[in-house]
Amino acid sequence: MLIKIPKGWEIPEREATPESVYLNRRQWLQAAGFLGAQGLLAAATESKSPYPAKRNPEFAKGDHPITEEWAATGYNNFYEFDPNNKEAVKDKVGAFVTSPWTIEVTGLVNKKKTLDVEELVRTLPLEERVYRFRCVEAWSMTVPWTGFPMSELIKLCDPKPNAKYVRWTTVNRPDQMPGIKQANWYPWPYFEALRLDEAMNPLAMIVTGLYGKPLPKQNGAPIRVITPWKYGYKSAKSIVKIEFTSGQPETFWHKLQPLEYGFYSNVNPHKPHPRWSQAFDKIIPRMERVPTPMYNGYEKWVGGLYKGDPDKI
Ligand code: MTE
Repeated sequence: MLIKIPKGWEIPEREATPESVYLNRRQWLQAAGFLGAQGLLAAATESKSPYPAKRNPEFAKGDHPITEEWAATGYNNFYEFDPNNKEAVKDKVGAFVTSPWTIEVTGLVNKKKTLDVEELVRTLPLEERVYRFRCVEAWSMTVPWTGFPMSELIKLCDPKPNAKYVRWTTVNRPDQMPGIKQANWYPWPYFEALRLDEAMNPLAMIVTGLYGKPLPKQNGAPIRVITPWKYGYKSAKSIVKIEFTSGQPETFWHKLQPLEYGFYSNVNPHKPHPRWSQAFDKIIPRMERVPTPMYNGYEKWVGGLYKGDPDKI
């Protein structure tokens, strides 16, 4: 697998131009009458954007430098768009419509309801957290996610006392997502789940943004799950349904390959995948090899969830 490192002249203008210069250009254009009513409206909307959100000091940096934005948004596992080529996903998301977007809340809840994602973004306090992100395939990144604690969403859903698990379902739109037709043997839509106490853990996040901007389509726009102590496939993208259950739900990769992908899927360097070691990860994009820490470095937050039950690692 080859990752392209952009040449100096390929960096986007906002990275090449200091923000003050960029803003001055906008003010200048405005004064010169180049930005009509529409431009002014766009500028007003821009100023109300919740991005970039304030970084949570507890998660201000990972133990490795933040991955370059072009790499984290250009190397994606999103099988609904391309099941074979991670670098092609970003080029296949053009037809994917991510606004408006609603999420159905169902199963063991006091009242079934529909949540509007734009309203969630407007009303919940967004924050940025830098997390390590480790794929089961042994590559890793360090990513600044924007979103809110998953516990806030669970509280809004108001589960009944007998709810013990939360199950996510991803959108299923074969006409906008070419990978669904290309790999029609997969049990679409993608579905994942967590135990309810895992979902309530302060580390679990619902993400709507990346690198201080709304989530790009290839990274799961407009809303996805992030659980940094688990392998990346637990982090369902572009979710449209949240369901609460009393029994442990089936998950997409477990259904396909039960001996390779368990329900818990916590990052564990001592438990090799049947086909490769999990002791090291390779950092995208330059593939430096570093030891993988237990629970991806988050034992302090989540170790207590699995105490005394080594099978659940
Ligand atoms: N969600 C959906 N709907 N479809 C997918 O194929 N891939 C998973 C996860 N969520 C996947 C998904 C896997 S295997 C990984 S590693 C991460 O998304 C990748 O997220 P990223 O592209 O933002 O790095």
